[in-house]
Amino acid sequence: MSNPLYNRYKNATLGLEMPFLLLDKLLFDKNIEAIIHRAKGRPIRIASKSIRCNALIKSLLDQHKEFIGVMSYSALETLFLLENEIDNILLGYPITNKEHIKLLCNKIARGARITFMVDCIEHIRLIQEQAKLYDIKAPICIDIDMSSKFPFIYFGVYRSSVKGVDDLKHLINQISNFDNISIEGIMGYEAQIAGLGDNIAGAGLMNSIIRFLKKKSIKEIAQRRKACIDFLQAKGFELKIINGGGTGSIESTFDESYINEITVGSGFFSSHLFDNYKNFKHESALMYAIECTRKPTDNIITCTGGGYVASGAVGLNKQAIPHLPQGLTLLKDEGTGEVQTPFDISECVENLQLGDPIFMRHSKAGEVCERFNKIHILVDEKNILSVNTYRGNGKCFM
Ligand SMILES: Cc1ncc(COP(=O)(O)O)c(C=O)c1O
Repeated sequence: MSNPLYNRYKNATLGLEMPFLLLDKLLFDKNIEAIIHRAKGRPIRIASKSIRCNALIKSLLDQHKEFIGVMSYSALETLFLLENEIDNILLGYPITNKEHIKLLCNKIARGARITFMVDCIEHIRLIQEQAKLYDIKAPICIDIDMSSKFPFIYFGVYRSSVKGVDDLKHLINQISNFDNISIEGIMGYEAQIAGLGDNIAGAGLMNSIIRFLKKKSIKEIAQRRKACIDFLQAKGFELKIINGGGTGSIESTFDESYINEITVGSGFFSSHLFDNYKNFKHESALMYAIECTRKPTDNIITCTGGGYVASGAVGLNKQAIPHLPQGLTLLKDEGTGEVQTPFDISECVENLQLGDPIFMRHSKAGEVCERFNKIHILVDEKNILSVNTYRGNGKCFM
């Protein structure tokens, strides 16, 4: 039986040269509503790394008061966002390039709202040096490590060197004479809650173990975060930013009452790694189309291109998956290839012909935009609006 959604996409995109990136606006809008709903209307900062399209970031900010700003991922990207009238940017990751810090300080001196991320004295010293040249107080946000150490398990990621309130005290003591920085906030990214699926098909008992560890970790990191906030507030710092979380932890992060904004990115496109959570399921809004060009056997059809594998620990889950039509299987021995991707079509609901598209979903939300110049937005049956990705703007930040 033919699939209506497949045919909708196929018919609406006839004439678009493959491969192309397609965003279903209806589903994108649903995801926006669902994310706002999950956050209960509280402030959300958009993780630009998971979107990498200036037009979409801007439209989110312009159309929804809940989206209060952006978490950028590089200094040059931050400058690019500013050029495009996107303000209130928390640069989510520390930088050490003096020239870049200088460029950002220059913008701050001219009124831009940018906050640097730091987690050690070296980061802060570099900012202090450049900020002094402009006679400004550069806003900084301290990244607090939110990983949990359980017996035999490191549950989290390795990022910040500030492991808790003692490290924070030490850091604050060291910078008491830094006149050109201003501590504006703290951020803690609990990757083990926000970015780790706990409802993975076939994972069986492992899902229960992950959920158990998540529950324990949520409790523990809440105490750590609270201790850090209490300390800073007692010291007289007014924290404008108390940022945490990600798509997978909206509820638990906001359960910590002192959190005043949450960062969300992946949920907007909802790449396939975000299918695997027990508490929520967003819509598959973004996909890419590759063209069926060969039929090596009765049961196999081969497309041109398709091999866009995601970053992170290497595993099958970093591969893109066939989305539509339903019933396609990738071949274990080949996977998604650099120039060719074969599919087993024995169970496919569609009678695929050469020239037909196969729609794929990337494993991570933003990275796939580095492969395409445009996102074609399917507004309705007759309207496709095409916008540049960062790459389409000639930008390659990372
Ligand atoms: C610092 C930080 N905050 C938040 C997020 C959450 O982003 P997303 O919603 O795209 O998973 C990430 C993702 O890696 C991150 O690095």
